[in-house]
Amino acid sequence: MDDTPLIHQDIEKAHTLPSRYYTEKSVFEEIISTFSQSFHFSAHISQLEKNNIIPLPQLENIMEESLILVRGDKIRCLSNVCTHRGMLIATTPCNSRTLKCGYHGRTFGLDGCMKNMPEFENVEGFPSQKDNLKQFQVREWKGLYFVGGNKFFDSVCKELDRRLGWINLEDFSHDESRHRDYEIKANWALYVDNYLEGFHIPFVHSDLNNVLDYNSYKTELFEGGVLQIGIANEGEECFDLPESSPDFGENIAAYYYWIFPGLMLNFYPWGLSVNIVNPISVDKTQIIYHGFVGNRNLLGKGAGGDLDKVELEDQDIVEATQRGVSSKSYDRGRYSPTKEKGVHYFHRILTD
Ligand code: FES
Ligand SMILES: [Fe+2]
Repeated sequence: MDDTPLIHQDIEKAHTLPSRYYTEKSVFEEIISTFSQSFHFSAHISQLEKNNIIPLPQLENIMEESLILVRGDKIRCLSNVCTHRGMLIATTPCNSRTLKCGYHGRTFGLDGCMKNMPEFENVEGFPSQKDNLKQFQVREWKGLYFVGGNKFFDSVCKELDRRLGWINLEDFSHDESRHRDYEIKANWALYVDNYLEGFHIPFVHSDLNNVLDYNSYKTELFEGGVLQIGIANEGEECFDLPESSPDFGENIAAYYYWIFPGLMLNFYPWGLSVNIVNPISVDKTQIIYHGFVGNRNLLGKGAGGDLDKVELEDQDIVEATQRGVSSKSYDRGRYSPTKEKGVHYFHRILTD
């Protein structure tokens, strides 16, 4: 039996992901079925200030559950499915002291317990535990709430704490004007591949290339993710780092974190841009942006200045690559050992 891994551990010997990973429905479905083991972004604390009930439709595909994040006496993740005949309880973010199903009026407390149901007086053994909304585990890092499994959660938090423990992320505020929702005609993993290297910046993002010092761009791997650090060109906006930061003294324009499978946390001097990569089908992906502002005065400046432009430049590339990898004559390529360490690591996790 040949036990050479599909993606060789040594980047100099390795070949990239076979094209079936981007084009075959069965491969796509097998990969997606493992995603419930991973943790997924649900909301930042500031989003729960305005609305205490937030539906999470972006997780329906990967968690196979319709879920809501609810702020009551504490923050919980509950099933969004009414225990009567299965109607969804909330379809838009809202503010309420109870959860009420719009179909026949069943109400639940913010803890998920069934409280009231019309016309059910003589129903035997009602209500029972089964009439309450199912609860799911919620995990938190600095005001960011996650649901799903715990795969890589501890190692990712350890890395984030070490690097960005100094950021007052809990105090950032949600900026609705920065919300974006795109649907692209490409496999989710192609979008991640593109995110994981700065190699394409001079070719694809001319404006961003003027802000970043391409030769100092850094890529670091950690268990469950990749960090890319953009170093600012002379005179460009950068973080005012405290002495406690391991990067103190450097001109950092952006920290780009990718966390397996499809979460991107982009820290800029103005705040945090969260990108969610939501696989819809083998060749369709939803990309959601949430913006959280820490310092309003720095908006529009530096590497995080014009995210829309960079995003559209990337989407064009990724959609054309989807068509490319769908060609019969293409199967695999090779990696640049200096510029594609992150992509290589992603492919290793994916095929492990
Ligand atoms: S489905 Fe919710 S009350 Fe009937
Ligand atoms: Fe890009």
